[in-house]
Amino acid sequence: MHPTSNDLPKKTRRAMCDLLNARLADAIDLRLQTKQAHWNVKGPHFIALHELFDKLYEVVGDYVDELAERAVQLGGTAQGTLQAVAKHSLLDVYPPATSAGHDHLKLLAKALAKFGASVRHAIDAAAKAGDADTADLFTGMSRGLDKTLWFLEAHLQGKA
Ligand SMILES: [Fe+2]
Repeated sequence: MHPTSNDLPKKTRRAMCDLLNARLADAIDLRLQTKQAHWNVKGPHFIALHELFDKLYEVVGDYVDELAERAVQLGGTAQGTLQAVAKHSLLDVYPPATSAGHDHLKLLAKALAKFGASVRHAIDAAAKAGDADTADLFTGMSRGLDKTLWFLEAHLQGKA
């Protein structure tokens, strides 16, 4: 840990850095998955999904930056390398041959829901550790992820 005048106890800051880096790995993985979908989606709703997936890439990119920078603010090191992400992401492997829009929607909704669940868990973990700011960061993310999941699931819920 790097020295800082931040008054949170070092033990708390270290625990939060571990938590932030764990979710950072997921977020970077999810971000790459949205771009994979953006590039490869095909089907009758191509342009809408192509644009929606790129929008998700931007939204998740904001979360990536917030997670990484919060870890550094607390005196830690952001673990954002490809190797760290591959080792620590809890998301399922994105099937690389996926093509149909419906399949991309289902895969991304599943990944988002899984990430959203661990972010919601992180809210409680941060609050319990006494770091209200990290809890607030996760809370904002969680709300955004719920909205994003709605955007994906609305495509899957309507009758064709
Ligand atoms: Fe593009």
